[in-house]
Amino acid sequence: MRIGVLGTGVVGRAIAGRLEGLGHEVVMGSRDPAAALGRPASGWDPQTLAEWHDGHGGVRLETFAEAAEHGELLVNATNGAASVEALRSAGAERINGKAVVDISNPLDFSAGHPGLFTGWDESLAERIQRAFPRAKVVKTLNTVTASVMVDPLSVAGGDHTIFVCGDDVDAKARVSELLRSFGWSDILDLGDLSSARGAEAYLMWWIRVRATLGDARFNVKIAR
Ligand SMILES: NC(=O)c1ccc[n+]([C@@H]2O[C@H](COP(=O)([O-])OP(=O)(O)OC[C@H]3O[C@@H](n4cnc5c(N)ncnc54)[C@H](OP(=O)(O)O)[C@@H]3O)[C@@H](O)[C@H]2O)c1
Repeated sequence: MRIGVLGTGVVGRAIAGRLEGLGHEVVMGSRDPAAALGRPASGWDPQTLAEWHDGHGGVRLETFAEAAEHGELLVNATNGAASVEALRSAGAERINGKAVVDISNPLDFSAGHPGLFTGWDESLAERIQRAFPRAKVVKTLNTVTASVMVDPLSVAGGDHTIFVCGDDVDAKARVSELLRSFGWSDILDLGDLSSARGAEAYLMWWIRVRATLGDARFNVKIAR
């Protein structure tokens, strides 16, 4: 499949690299590919995009617009505070009618502690859906760290749960198929996109668990 991954951070790289390995044609989007490639490593991001790209020559690095144009299916892996702006810069005409896998989180640390800039009565996924009414937004994968998104078997043999939600049933089915190809087997459909409120608010708890464990490679199992 032709897939456009918007975002060059650890999530964009994990998803693009996994999709490349599965044989998909992947274009990764950035505001400015040359600037992104030239960015030095940081404490948060010890591997530069250039180093990553050296090992993933099958992934083309282009602008957000070119990645969106390329994809039959799109992935939003941009910073939550900038996601609507990033998608706008890609152009609604390149997003309309497509499934958009939304992995972003509306995290806000401006008060000195973790919060959500959306509040409790809406989600970033719904904001994106409202900004692009003809897109088929599917929220998923935002509840686990990047390495777990693309290799769930690395944690507890994969016996844990990933959530999906969205208003378009067919788009959710396509995205669930993609998740299965990543190794996910316990995929819990939470219904329409308003469930993204809970999936995003879960990050307030995720952050505490991560701090307690000192490691981000964990997930929850919904035992029934
Ligand atoms: N890190 C994780 O393990 C994890 C887990 C679950 C969910 N998430 C969510 O996944 C998303 C991506 O996270 P990340 O850690 O990979 O990277 P990130 O640093 O949150 O986002 C990087 C991407 O955002 C774009 N961006 C930043 N500011 C922008 C602006 N003002 N306008 C347009 N685009 C902008 C960057 O564009 P350039 O390419 O031009 O630099 C880059 O592509 C976030 O929403 C995050 O909350 C992350």
